Amino acid sequence: MNESSGALPVVGEPEWETLRMAAVAAMERAYAPYSKFKVGAAALTEDGRIVSGCNVENAAYGVTLCAECNMVGELFATGGGKLHAFYCVDSSGAALMPCGRCRQLLSEHSGSDMVLMTPHGIQTMEQVLPDAFGPHNL
Ligand code: THU
Repeated sequence: MNESSGALPVVGEPEWETLRMAAVAAMERAYAPYSKFKVGAAALTEDGRIVSGCNVENAAYGVTLCAECNMVGELFATGGGKLHAFYCVDSSGAALMPCGRCRQLLSEHSGSDMVLMTPHGIQTMEQVLPDAFGPHNL
């Protein structure tokens, strides 16, 4: 069951374009002096908010925060809830497949109808992380 009480937002061409622009705007603010690989992530929440984040690297490389981590931080800082549609971009603005760790992170906070824009088109959470480990395993 979804956490939101109303109907879920529609995700059509205009919504994907809004997400792509939010992801690009976040990517432009990335702090990636080591890899020079800027990433932006944006998502539409089930209650219609847009949250975004960029990657933030660190001189201690392993401390790097992926764009998705900071986006999930904004999700909770702005009221929590579940993600409904997700778009991640590289510095050229092209769709980027989230890394494995971030697929796990997204899985935890995805609503049941979550979709992701990927280099292979629109995919479900189950397609990008089949048989995900989750709260049901604990
Ligand atoms: N990165 C992300 O922000 N998200 C991903 O899903 C893949 C990788 C970042 C981490 C690092 O700052 C840079 O991309 C190169 O790995």
